[in-house]
Amino acid sequence: MLLFLDTANIDEITEIAAWGVLDGVTTNPSLVGKEGKDFKTIVQEICKIVPGPVSAEVTSEKPDEMVAQGRDIAKWADNVIVKCPLTPAGLSATSRLAKEGIRVNVTLCFSVNQALLAARAGAYFVSPFVGRLDDINEDGCGLVENIAEMYEVQGFETMVLAASLRTPQHVMRSAMAGADIATMPYKVFKQLVTHPLTDAGLEKFMADWKKAEGALAAKA
Ligand code: E4P
Repeated sequence: MLLFLDTANIDEITEIAAWGVLDGVTTNPSLVGKEGKDFKTIVQEICKIVPGPVSAEVTSEKPDEMVAQGRDIAKWADNVIVKCPLTPAGLSATSRLAKEGIRVNVTLCFSVNQALLAARAGAYFVSPFVGRLDDINEDGCGLVENIAEMYEVQGFETMVLAASLRTPQHVMRSAMAGADIATMPYKVFKQLVTHPLTDAGLEKFMADWKKAEGALAAKA
């Protein structure tokens, strides 16, 4: 499963990219809006830091305008992916953009049938929103599992991008459910690497090493 960061913050992306395990980035209008910078400038900066796919969402709700925006966004960088919402207008724009060879991430997916429509429209990624389903007492990771199974049975090539992940448990369950990609906020990405036993173990190793070095120095 590929690991994406769900942020438009350059500092967060730069820090996690340095770990060597960052495969891509997803943004949305809410995340870009928080940064107080021009949309195109931010996306192009991110595309330079991360060579993998970087999703940038259209902000129109009308098919013709979405297509025009999608065509424009697709020219911003080689690794940019156009994001369209899972609405009738978004599907129409997706199928038109996909026919032109433009890669589309169909976002705001909350059901298997919506994922079926996204795949039929030619989506490159489909983004089921796990956390937002959990918020309304549904099983977000269960949806990821069902979509992955349906795509497998049907032979669709659309990749399942588990989104709206709020906890390390969401990431682990998405991986086990067969997601191709997990996108998560900076805080969750950092939680993945942290374990109190790792910290305690390292502290002990370092303390023992210093002691051993001290003993060797005293002998010399
Ligand atoms: C994914 O592409 C979305 O930007 C994101 O995962 C939404 O997450 P949220 O539900 O925590 O806002």
